[in-house]
Amino acid sequence: MSCAHLAKRFHQLGGQPPMTFLGEILTDRPLFNVIVENRGAGCLPAATVGQSPNSRRERMDEAKLMEFVGQAVGDVGAMLGGAMVVIGDKLGLYRAMNGAGPLTAAELAARTGTAERYVREWLSAQAARGYVTYEGDGKFTLPDEHAIPLTDETSPACVIGAFEIALGSVYATDTIADRFRSGEGFAWGAHHQHVLGGCERFFKPGYLNHLASSWIPALDGVEAKLKVGARIADVGCGHGASTLLLAEAYPESTVVGFDGHDGSVQAARKRAADAGLADRVDFDVATASTFSGTYDLVCFFDCLHDMGDPAGACRHVLERLAPNGTLMLIEPYANDDLADNLNPVGAAYYAFSTLLCTPCSLSQEVGAALGAQAGEARLREIVTGAGFSSLRRVAETPFNIVLEAKP
Ligand SMILES: C[S@@+](CC[C@H](N)C(=O)[O-])C[C@H]1O[C@@H](n2cnc3c(N)ncnc32)[C@H](O)[C@@H]1O
Repeated sequence: MSCAHLAKRFHQLGGQPPMTFLGEILTDRPLFNVIVENRGAGCLPAATVGQSPNSRRERMDEAKLMEFVGQAVGDVGAMLGGAMVVIGDKLGLYRAMNGAGPLTAAELAARTGTAERYVREWLSAQAARGYVTYEGDGKFTLPDEHAIPLTDETSPACVIGAFEIALGSVYATDTIADRFRSGEGFAWGAHHQHVLGGCERFFKPGYLNHLASSWIPALDGVEAKLKVGARIADVGCGHGASTLLLAEAYPESTVVGFDGHDGSVQAARKRAADAGLADRVDFDVATASTFSGTYDLVCFFDCLHDMGDPAGACRHVLERLAPNGTLMLIEPYANDDLADNLNPVGAAYYAFSTLLCTPCSLSQEVGAALGAQAGEARLREIVTGAGFSSLRRVAETPFNIVLEAKP
């Protein structure tokens, strides 16, 4: 079978899974041999000492190799598909398709003030990845089940922010590759705006749906205090999504958001003003080791692992907590053993951790670099090592674990 014939068959197979096509390649021994023999040119790792190329080729599992090629091709589509999702979000293409039924590219372009030729290509790419359904006759539909994760930022199923932070993260690919050589860090605030804005949008639906309704009530005696009026610090607050939700839910309490990144604090102040909450919430530039005041509740939302000195941060919290105060720690969902994190959520978090969290921690003093998949056991070591007497898991979601630490 020639390469030209294989290419033709690929297109003839149309909507069938790539594995069908790969199955045909597997029967094509000459092509497989070409792939294996070209490994020295970068296709496969060079033979290691003591293993002749021939013996490695004989032992190689052809099906496994081609299955991996299929996976990698799918990942290329997924990587580029992420950019397609961000375009769809930014231009309102998903929102215009939501509930609209079948639309042509021209109709969608007219509804969104965009150019038909670009929209047609985007719709085709989205249909190829299964995000929209191709109905024939040039018409495309966004299924209701896809519209919620892609357009409804009040839903716990919303994933749109994850694409924005992912796109922003990969902008730093070359810089982070350089950091692999130097070992230096890369500060959170040095990333593209899509990282900071995407982070806010990624985590906010979870906070909106769980913070006041289940996470705070799960803490020992905290909800009652917040209802009558308590002092809350949200440390590493970013753009202040969690800070504003706390201020809204507990109007008798005072809430202060702290972050080491000046630009994030300015964005948080603007969010508070836009929400009409500027008189109820304060934001200040301070690190987890320098923030001031005394608090009944200190919160770290998805940021302890980003800090250079998480143990020092916890020691500082102990100094700032009122008697019988509480530290609430929200961290990315992770199991303790790496082998138990080898799943789609772990794949996303380890990659975010490589591009964002680990470089952020390494950019600061101590540079503990816990990583986004530290797991509860490692967090317990840090928190109790800093002087807290207990750490208890009080809640979890597919993306977060919620821990309560008591002095
Ligand atoms: C992943 S973001 C989380 C932001 C926010 N808490 C949220 O959930 O959307 C991590 C945040 O921690 C902040 N940060 C990192 N190290 C810090 C430190 N040592 N002290 C205070 N803030 C820090 C970063 O500037 C960033 O805003």
